[in-house]
Amino acid sequence: MRIAFFDSGIGGLTVLKRALDALPNEEYLYYADTRNVPYGVKPKDDVRQHIFNAVDFLAQRNIHALVVACNTATSVCISELRARFGFPIVGMEPAVKPAIVRNSGKKILVFATSLTLKESKLETLIDTLDKKRQVERRELDGLVTFAEAFEFDTPLVQEYLLGKLSNIQWSQYETVVLGCTHFILYRDMIQALAGHTVELIDGNEGTVNHLVNTLGRNRPATPAGGGRIDFYSSGVKDGPDRVHRLMALLK
Ligand code: DGL
Repeated sequence: MRIAFFDSGIGGLTVLKRALDALPNEEYLYYADTRNVPYGVKPKDDVRQHIFNAVDFLAQRNIHALVVACNTATSVCISELRARFGFPIVGMEPAVKPAIVRNSGKKILVFATSLTLKESKLETLIDTLDKKRQVERRELDGLVTFAEAFEFDTPLVQEYLLGKLSNIQWSQYETVVLGCTHFILYRDMIQALAGHTVELIDGNEGTVNHLVNTLGRNRPATPAGGGRIDFYSSGVKDGPDRVHRLMALLK
């Protein structure tokens, strides 16, 4: 089957990586909206338009399913996407539920983009589940821009994270929810700052399980894709240099 993955940029590769483990023989399209990234600091209506443009493009490529590998895009318009397109669409949301289910009393910190934090989807999720008022929220929008420049463990990123996180009393927290797929690329750096007593979780496993279940219902016994991946940046097929860099992140 042909499965499309969509994100504003490279964060969704962290989800695709898991999907390749679970479903190694399908055929994949990975679409990064590099022209419009970052989404998380933009007005909702603009972001919605960018998402629809991207999914319109993917819908013309005979895809059997779409994974919106972006918490921000999911919170902006997942229901509208499902209403408009005929193929199954799997979205993602910050893993607040597993964090609350496992909680033993300390606080939970959700990192997401500013737009995800503003949207009612996350608000409603937290209001419904967070009976003990343990969940706090913070944006780390700067990480999206660093990731798009392929800037990972560098002094500049260290400085940014220290500036954002140094006033947190980590001993009061037991879980950090990485509620943006780009932030997962910085998991080790965040873990080092939070210390080993804080557990970092994300929604990738749940998303891929959901994809597997969704496809399970109408999947041919022998997939023909062989794990092939076509990469696109805002509708333009990626050249060999970028493909090489993206493939390195899937290793
Ligand atoms: N990767 C996206 C997410 O999961 C958002 C990045 C952006 O701000 O564009 O929320």
